[in-house]
Amino acid sequence: MSRPIATRIYDLYGRCYSGFEWLFRKRLARALGAIAFREGDRALDIGVGTGISLEFYPPHVHVTGIDLSAGMLAAAKKKLATGEVRKGCREDATQLLQADALNLPFADKSFDVIFLSHVISTVPDPQRCLDEALRVAREQATIVLVNHFRSPWPVINWVETAIDPICRRLGWRTDLSVEHLLQSSGVEGAEKRRVGTGSMFRIVFLQKRRDGAGGTRVVEMPTPAKRKAELEIGRM
Ligand SMILES: C[S@@+](CC[C@H](N)C(=O)[O-])C[C@H]1O[C@@H](n2cnc3c(N)ncnc32)[C@H](O)[C@@H]1O
Repeated sequence: MSRPIATRIYDLYGRCYSGFEWLFRKRLARALGAIAFREGDRALDIGVGTGISLEFYPPHVHVTGIDLSAGMLAAAKKKLATGEVRKGCREDATQLLQADALNLPFADKSFDVIFLSHVISTVPDPQRCLDEALRVAREQATIVLVNHFRSPWPVINWVETAIDPICRRLGWRTDLSVEHLLQSSGVEGAEKRRVGTGSMFRIVFLQKRRDGAGGTRVVEMPTPAKRKAELEIGRM
């Protein structure tokens, strides 16, 4: 899917997306709730959309949300300004910018947490999107993807392949393999969890390694418990 088409589709969705937000809220709450945020962490929300996720960040985190669609961003800005985001991130610690996930306007190693919900399957080049996320992630940053990925089950996989051309016209793809995506970015041992029993959606947790241990493209598996324990040791 080319960039202008995606942008036009999501500009349109920006007007009616609020009607579907309930479908995503629980999933986003669960994924963000599993992250061990530290005081003053800088988080980047790639493809922040209408800002459903904003209320699930703790108030002590600086959040930058980017999206290519002005329509989606306008809805997120309205949500923030009108106090609809009652809990979660603070308005004065949140920045919403129009930017391309495939060319992030940030220096290398700028963020402690990177969140990509329902976006990796909407961009024209998922690989580049993940590579950009890894580039702007600091050493030991947490990177979390929430998405539908191609099923390992042949029958479901057949359906996903069959409906993919239709879904692409609607703004997303259904044939993205998480294994292929992670492998091509040099990611090892990511932790993948189903959102719930029978759910087609997965939450993928990655942690960027220290540079000396393997360069910017290699990440290792953190369980949230392990990450929390590491952070606690770091504080001692
Ligand atoms: C399905 S929505 C998900 C929004 C939000 N993350 C959520 O979970 O509700 C996908 C979002 O990705 C954005 N998007 C698509 N391609 C993009 C790109 N190249 N750069 C930045 N955002 C992009 C769309 O504009 C849209 O807001």
